[in-house]
Amino acid sequence: MIDQIYRKAVLTVAGNQKVEELARARMWPLAQRFVAGEDISSAVQAVKELEQDGIQGNLDLLGEFIDSPARCTEFADNVIRLIEAAHQAGITPYVSIKLSSVGQGKQDAGEDLGLKNARRIIGKASEYGGFVCLDMEDHPRTDITLQQFRTLVGEFGNQHVGTVLQSYLYRSLQDRAGLDDLHPNIRMVKGAYLEPETVAYPDKSDVDQNYRRLVYAHLKAGHYTNVATHDEQIIDDVKRFVLAHGIPRDQFEFQMLYGIRRDLQKELAQEGYRVRAYIPYGRDWYAYFSRRIAETPRNAAFVVQGMLKG
Ligand code: FDA
Repeated sequence: MIDQIYRKAVLTVAGNQKVEELARARMWPLAQRFVAGEDISSAVQAVKELEQDGIQGNLDLLGEFIDSPARCTEFADNVIRLIEAAHQAGITPYVSIKLSSVGQGKQDAGEDLGLKNARRIIGKASEYGGFVCLDMEDHPRTDITLQQFRTLVGEFGNQHVGTVLQSYLYRSLQDRAGLDDLHPNIRMVKGAYLEPETVAYPDKSDVDQNYRRLVYAHLKAGHYTNVATHDEQIIDDVKRFVLAHGIPRDQFEFQMLYGIRRDLQKELAQEGYRVRAYIPYGRDWYAYFSRRIAETPRNAAFVVQGMLKG
């Protein structure tokens, strides 16, 4: 409950336009701990550096709730440029996209613009043997995102497209089971948005318990599972679970956010687990940065200290 109150307070303050203006001016040096840079070359460079420690990258061009259709298509063009740049740098492209930023919910010649742009992006990634993960956003988008995921797996195959389920939503266990026929590649997360009690568990202990249930069910079903958390207890439990159930190491990977628990990321890679860091980059870093602050007071303290230093 306290987690919910803290998260709500941070996200409400962060959403204030004056706070945003001030923050944008002052916080970029601090945001760089969590964001690889503002352009493609810094994103590609970040992947190369992580690869030296045996950690793979998952690139994410920042931008969400983009309003005009033209800007959504321009955003998709930029993701395609990113995929090309990664391929040219010798990296198998692995990117994440938010369907809202490429036009989900906007019609274009009788079809959803988000779906059309996602097709172009996944088409390009699959040309290079790459992968695109459809991030999960706030709950009004869950149904449409899962439907579009189903369509896209049908067109490109589950080796080129995956999506995300959030353990804070009551519905996720059922959603997971409903996708089984696709043998889907799913990233399991706890969930980062401010959601009402009508749809999401208010208590963290329930979110954590549901997280384990989701991961275990997906692993047991034999599908590729991305265990995306920094929660060490859960990570240890998953290690024990896979050992006990004879689940091979190439059926799952641990995923964490760029700049968070780098020590743990390296440690897991050294132990021979697959590890991937989610690497955001781009000029539109503010909303992403606010969610990281909302996740833990420790990060808020880091920002306040940084601002006081000047
Ligand atoms: P939890 O919040 O319980 O934290 C466990 C421990 O990890 C904490 O005690 C702390 O030590 C450490 N920790 C966690 N967050 C930290 C932070 N920001 N800074 C420093 N330490 C931190 N969400 C979503 O809604 N849709 C999505 O598509 C995605 N995608 C995604 C991809 C990847 C690769 C990751 C890792 C996460 C996401 N998320 C997400 C975010 C996710 O929902 C969640 O908000 C964060 O991962 C934080 O939750 P944890 O699972 O780490 O646990």
